[in-house]
Amino acid sequence: MTITLNLLPDNAPFTPGQRAWLNGFFAGLLSVEQINPGTAPAEKVEELPWHDPNLALDERMKLADGRKYELRLMAAMGQMDCGQCGYMCKTYAEAIAGGDEKDLTLCVPGGKPTVRKLKDLMAETPAPVARKPVTPAAVVNVYTRKIPFAAKLKDMARLTLEGSVKDVRHVIIDLAGSGITYEPGDSLGFFPRNCPRLVEDILRALGAAGDEHVATPRGESSVRQAMLEWLDITKPGDETLECLAASATDADEKTRLKRWASGDEDIEGWDLLDILHTCPAARPSIGEFVSRLGQLQPRLFSIASSPRVHPDEVHLTVGVVRYELNERQHKGVASCFIADRLQRNDQVPIYIQPNYGFRLPLDGDRPVIMIGPGTGVAPFRAFLEERKVRGARGKNWLFFGNPHSATDFFYRDELRGFLHDGILTRLDTAFSRDQRDKIYVQQLMLQHSQEFWSWLQEGAVLYVCGDATRMARDVHEMLHRIAVQRGMLSEGAAVDYVKQLAAESRYLRDVY
Ligand SMILES: Cc1cc2nc3c(=O)[nH]c(=O)nc-3n(C[C@H](O)[C@H](O)[C@H](O)COP(=O)(O)OP(=O)(O)OC[C@H]3O[C@@H](n4cnc5c(N)ncnc54)[C@H](O)[C@@H]3O)c2cc1C
Ligand SMILES: NC(=O)c1ccc[n+]([C@@H]2O[C@H](COP(=O)([O-])OP(=O)(O)OC[C@H]3O[C@@H](n4cnc5c(N)ncnc54)[C@H](OP(=O)(O)O)[C@@H]3O)[C@@H](O)[C@H]2O)c1
Repeated sequence: MTITLNLLPDNAPFTPGQRAWLNGFFAGLLSVEQINPGTAPAEKVEELPWHDPNLALDERMKLADGRKYELRLMAAMGQMDCGQCGYMCKTYAEAIAGGDEKDLTLCVPGGKPTVRKLKDLMAETPAPVARKPVTPAAVVNVYTRKIPFAAKLKDMARLTLEGSVKDVRHVIIDLAGSGITYEPGDSLGFFPRNCPRLVEDILRALGAAGDEHVATPRGESSVRQAMLEWLDITKPGDETLECLAASATDADEKTRLKRWASGDEDIEGWDLLDILHTCPAARPSIGEFVSRLGQLQPRLFSIASSPRVHPDEVHLTVGVVRYELNERQHKGVASCFIADRLQRNDQVPIYIQPNYGFRLPLDGDRPVIMIGPGTGVAPFRAFLEERKVRGARGKNWLFFGNPHSATDFFYRDELRGFLHDGILTRLDTAFSRDQRDKIYVQQLMLQHSQEFWSWLQEGAVLYVCGDATRMARDVHEMLHRIAVQRGMLSEGAAVDYVKQLAAESRYLRDVY
C-alpha cells in the first residue's frame, strides 16, 4: 500500500491532475518535503494497493479492476515513482487520461509491457475529454524538463581505480547563474546526445547520406542532426520494429521483426543497430524510419551533494554503461556521453527532478539507516553532508557494497572522515568479490539484525537506493526476515509492519 498526501480539501474545485500538481506544489512550498519522514501520514489517504513495484503487471491490473480509468492506467506503470517520465506514476496516468500527454512510451521501469497495456486501455475507452494541462512533477525551480538550464561541466574524476571491472565517475555540474535549488534526495535530469559514431553506423546501415531533411517535433532538420540530438536511436520501440517489418522483403526477417514488435520474442539489451544488422532486407525510406523513432529522453541521476556544502554545484555518481552483445560494444547513451565526450566547460541541458518521497527527516535527532551499494551511495553522500552541515545529532548508519574494496570503495576517504567526525555512527561494507563467496548488503543487515532492529524500534528512517531488480528486492525480503526474527512477528504481521513503516514514511526507496 502506498499513501498519497492530499493537502487540498475534498471539495476544492480541481480535476485530479490539477489536484496532484497542486498537492506537490504546496508540499514543496510549505516544507520543501512532501513527506516528512518519521511522521504519521496526513489524515486523508488514498489506497493504491497496486502501487508496489514488486507486483507483476497482471496482479496490479487485477487490484485496480473496477477503479477509475486513470487509476487503471496508473496500475499499468512501473510503480517506481522514479520520475524518468517527468511525472509520478499517478500524475502520468492522469495526464494521459486527461489527453494532455500523448506519449505512452515514457515509463522506463515498466518498459514495453506497460506501453502495450496502456495502448489496450486506451483502445477500450472512449477518447479522453481534454482537460487543462497537467504540469509534470511539481518543481519550484524556473528550469524544468521542458525548459532545461544550460549548465556547464565543472569537473569529473574516476571513482573506480585501475583494475576495476566498473567505470564510475564523480561528476560536478556548475549551476552558477541559474538560481536552481535542490534538496538532498532529489535527482538531476540530464539531456544527453547520441554517439556520433553510432549515428554514422546507423545511417550507413540504412543507406542514407544523413543530409536528408526531415520534420521533427523540434522543426525541420537534417537526419544526422535529429539523430544526434533529439531521437532515440538505441532502444528498438514497437513502432520502429513494425515499420521495419512492413518494409522487409525477406519473409523470415518480417516474421522475426513482427515477433519482436509484439513482444513474443525477447531482445533485451539489443539496440537498433543490432536489428538493422540482423535484418538487412528491412529497409524503409529514411523519412519513414525517422518518423517512427521515439524522442531521446533525459536520464536521471541521484544528486550526491548538499547544496549547503557545495553552493552552485550539483555532484553526481555516474556508472558508465558498456556491454558486449552481438559481437559489438554497446554504450549507454547518457553515461557514455558524460564519460567519453563531455569536456570541462561544455554546456549540458539539465533540470532538477524533486523527490519529495526521499528526504531526510526534519527532526535531526531521528536515526537514519542508509542502504546504498554501488552508485546507490550517491544520495547518502548528500545526506551525510547535509546532516553534518545542519548539526543534526541523530545516528547515521550506512551499508555500502561493491565488487572490490581496493578499486571500488567510492568516497572512501570522505566516509572515513564522517566516521571520524562522529557523523557516521556505523559503516558496514559488503565487498562482494573480495572473498570466494559473495557478500551482499542484506547479509550484513542479517549479521547485525539485533542492532538493526533496535534502530528501527528507536524510530529510524530506512532508505534504500540503487539497483531495483535484484538488490532492492532482496533487501525488502531481508527486512521482513529481520522483523520475524528480531521482532518475533508472524510472517503476516511482518508484512503489515513493513507496510506500516512505509506508511509512516520510514521506509523510503529511490531505486532504478
Ligand atoms: C531516480 C533515478 C536515479 C538514478 N540515479 C543514478 C545514479 O545516481 N547513478 C547512475 O549511474 N545511474 C542512475 N540512474 C540510472 C540512469 O538514469 C541511467 O539509466 C543510466 O545512467 C543508464 O543510462 P544510459 O543512457 O547511459 O544507458 P542507456 O542507453 O539508457 O542504456 C541502458 C540500457 O542498456 C541495457 N543494458 C545495460 N547493461 C546491459 C548488459 N550488461 N547487458 C544487456 N543490456 C544491458 C539495458 O536495457 C538498460 O536499460 C538513476 C535512474 C533513476 C530513475
Ligand atoms: N535502468 C538503467 O538503465 C540502469 C543503468 C545503470 C544501472 N542500473 C542499475 O543500477 C544498478 C547499480 O549499478 P552499480 O554498478 O552501481 O551497482 P550494482 O551492480 O548494484 O553493484 C553493487 C554491488 O551490489 C552487489 N549486488 C549484486 N546483486 C545484489 C543483490 N541481489 N543484492 C545486494 N547486492 C547485490 C554487486 O555484487 P556483484 O556484482 O559482485 O554480484 C556489487 O557488489 C545496476 O545493477 C543496474 O541494475 C540501471
